[in-house]
Amino acid sequence: MNPFRYLSGLGLGSVLFCFQPAIIGAPNPVAAPTQFSERAPVIGQQDPKRLAWFKEARLGMFIHWGLYAIPAGQWPGQEAKNYAEWIMKQANVPSSEYEKLAPQFNPVKFNAREWVAVAKAAGMKYLVITAKHHDGFSMYATKQSSYNIIDATPFKRDPVKELSEACREAGIVFCIYYSIADWHHPESPAQYSQGGFHGAPNPNADVTKYDAYMRAQVRELLTQYGPVGIVWFDGGGAFRTENRAELLQADQMAAMIHQLQPATLINNRLGAAADYGTPEQRIPGGKTDEAFEVCMTLNKHWGYNKFDQDWKSPALVVRNIADIVSKGGNYLLNVGPTAEGLIPSDSIRILKEVGAWTTTNAEAIYNAGPTPFGNELGFEEAIKKEKNGQPLWVDRNEWRCTTQPGKLYFTLLEWPKGKFTVPGLTNKVKKAYFLADPGHVPLAVSVNASGATFTLPEKSPAALAPVLCVEIEGIVKPKTASGTLDTKKDTES
Ligand code: GLC
Repeated sequence: MNPFRYLSGLGLGSVLFCFQPAIIGAPNPVAAPTQFSERAPVIGQQDPKRLAWFKEARLGMFIHWGLYAIPAGQWPGQEAKNYAEWIMKQANVPSSEYEKLAPQFNPVKFNAREWVAVAKAAGMKYLVITAKHHDGFSMYATKQSSYNIIDATPFKRDPVKELSEACREAGIVFCIYYSIADWHHPESPAQYSQGGFHGAPNPNADVTKYDAYMRAQVRELLTQYGPVGIVWFDGGGAFRTENRAELLQADQMAAMIHQLQPATLINNRLGAAADYGTPEQRIPGGKTDEAFEVCMTLNKHWGYNKFDQDWKSPALVVRNIADIVSKGGNYLLNVGPTAEGLIPSDSIRILKEVGAWTTTNAEAIYNAGPTPFGNELGFEEAIKKEKNGQPLWVDRNEWRCTTQPGKLYFTLLEWPKGKFTVPGLTNKVKKAYFLADPGHVPLAVSVNASGATFTLPEKSPAALAPVLCVEIEGIVKPKTASGTLDTKKDTES
């Protein structure tokens, strides 16, 4: 068993969760995959400098905000209450009806600085705002269509602009989400839409015209708002066809982005030139060398749903941060603001508690390296299988480890009674202390050939997962029964 096995359906072309192996060292960006896949191969690691800020940042805020915040989960006259940004398709609303939301959209309580302050206080270093979601409504000042927040709503303000400015003021990297799927644009063919849905299907839709529209919009987004950290594409998976990248003219899109803003990253949902992978609502089982960002909701919906009170606990969010960073990834956590322009108070409450933890434990997160161990992450079940036929991965939940030069950080997910043992840690320990302990009082430690054992106080020094900082000599070379762990196999399927 390879403890670093990466549990993502590698190379399976899975639409749900396909995270393909990095092609490192290839001289030029590789062409989009010929086989259908929503996700493109990740090539950004050819130039680690492009990804440097992203890997340092580790935490970002995702914001799903649009006209769908008005129905807030339920379409008038219908029973279902579990909708959000997909309400137009799921409630089967024609464009002529959905468009009526625009004149009602007047989020007078929106304050870009307040939103950015929430992100910053949580310890987030970048922010991704939905400039256009699948409903096709542009939440920014576009000249490509009048179906936008300036021309079609009484609000007449550009939140993308206001957020870009507030981000720059606060030192947060500003990023843009852009949906390839579009249920409103007359040239977006229904046949390439999710479930064939379009609010006003046009049998003569010309995808090349729609491609030009998308490029013109992305050009605006990259020229109107200063530096953009990421163009976060989504919804391209609806183009279920083998020549998807060609149909989308994805290479032209990528070339334009690189020409306008060479430092901008592209996620892996365009179908070309991907800098990193985007596992959604789940965390990969093992460690990988490939850059990735787990995107996740704080409740069960991306857009605002007033019925959804199923919030994650701050403890779970903190656990996820430690888990993801120990595997070398980023965490993009979502908020779905209301039609008034407010981030839900429960999201603010959770993020505030998370922020207290990220502040205390900053050195264990930002720019931190992945675990040098691996067995602590979990194991493969001998008999049970995942849906895709791969062995079932079982998470272990005792601790996670991240690193800085000369230091190991153990996030304790469960408080061990009396002693904490790290098998395989045989380096000389210079000092061990909790980051939550302002005095950094050293703990007693004993090291032998099988590992290190730390003597803990009776009570945890922190309400949420305490982080034990261990200053060591040399680099960690953990041994397993079968010898030194083989990290070269990190990206194996
Ligand atoms: C899914 C949802 C979409 C959301 C995205 C975020 O693709 O369908 O609405 O924007 O996840 O990753």
